[in-house]
Amino acid sequence: MGNILRTLFARKTDNVIGVDIGTCAVKAVQLDRRQGRPLVKAVGVVDLPPGLMENGACLDPKGLAAVIRQALATGGVRGGDAALAIGVPALFIREISFPPLSADELKEAVKWDSEKYVPFAPESYYYDYAVTGRGASDLELKVMLAAAPRETVDALVDAAKSAGLQPVAIDAEPLAIYRTLPAAANALVVDIGAEISHATIFQDGAPVVARPVPISGQRFTEVLMEAFELDRGEAERLKQRQRGLLLRPGDQGEPSAVHRRFELLVSEAAREAQRTIEYYRIQNKEAIIDKAFLTGGGASLDNIVHYFTTQLDIPVVIHDPLAGVDIAGGFDPQFVRSLGGRFAVAVGLAMRGGEP
Ligand SMILES: Nc1ncnc2c1ncn2[C@@H]1O[C@H](COP(=O)(O)OP(=O)(O)OP(=O)(O)O)[C@@H](O)[C@H]1O
Ligand SMILES: [Mg+2]
Repeated sequence: MGNILRTLFARKTDNVIGVDIGTCAVKAVQLDRRQGRPLVKAVGVVDLPPGLMENGACLDPKGLAAVIRQALATGGVRGGDAALAIGVPALFIREISFPPLSADELKEAVKWDSEKYVPFAPESYYYDYAVTGRGASDLELKVMLAAAPRETVDALVDAAKSAGLQPVAIDAEPLAIYRTLPAAANALVVDIGAEISHATIFQDGAPVVARPVPISGQRFTEVLMEAFELDRGEAERLKQRQRGLLLRPGDQGEPSAVHRRFELLVSEAAREAQRTIEYYRIQNKEAIIDKAFLTGGGASLDNIVHYFTTQLDIPVVIHDPLAGVDIAGGFDPQFVRSLGGRFAVAVGLAMRGGEP
């Protein structure tokens, strides 16, 4: 069960370029996986102008194509097979139960039932599903159903094609991230992006709930813009350079107004992540969630992990999607590693080549 929307473009390939189209940047990664550990062969990131992507949907495929082309060029990639991801805001993911059915019966049942669950107009979406487990009594099949609006998928595919890529797979973003996690069958993943963040619960390796979390990197930047009268670029640089904008709980000294606002934002995000766990546990009393991973550019905020640890009561780590990956000569490894957290989706997409 590698790629939930795989039926859209299933073509076997062992050399795909992972292209993550976020709200604020396009990231492209190519891995060489012929030897044991994957090797980063190409990596490119180019910022997206505001207004191109909104809630996971592309508003300007031509403009997007130009940025994708640039991201490929900076990474030294020309073209080729590519895997793309659909972000949580544009995605429907849910675990549903069926009685025990044969594979063919299940296919029909999901087809009929998808309209009951999927919140998009009939015929207007792509969907895929995978059996994720059986209930305790064996009288139940647990099935993950994922769907995305056709319009959203088609616009991203068109943009990728105009940029010289051959999209061969479309993934749900959480699944791409999951592929980069070490031993995380039952875990919570919080992806803190520029505009959008989301929390996903995985059970036995399958995403069972994905919820938006109303906090994002930009909110922190805006606090700095307001407090110090900076423009967005200046505030962004300050945020990325300055350690300790978020105090460590228990730190000495009087917190400033900026410290307090950063703390409020992070605490709210951590509470929202906690609510995601509680919400899932109400319906699934036997659920085990034993670890949390923070990823996305926003997770680079100094000390952020402490706030999530306090709130969640389970071990929390900052995820490094490049931990199991080598970096080819010719790249500055420090630079590539410093991008680390932002590349989980792109690396996960690039890892999926070779899967059926
Ligand atoms: N060192 C850092 N410290 C704090 N924040 C950072 C740092 N580096 C990047 N960020 C923040 O990470 C965010 C970008 O994260 P990411 O690249 O994961 O977003 P995206 O995937 O483009 O957008 P989205 O997921 O919202 O669609 C920006 O808000 C940026 O300010
Ligand atoms: Mg992102």
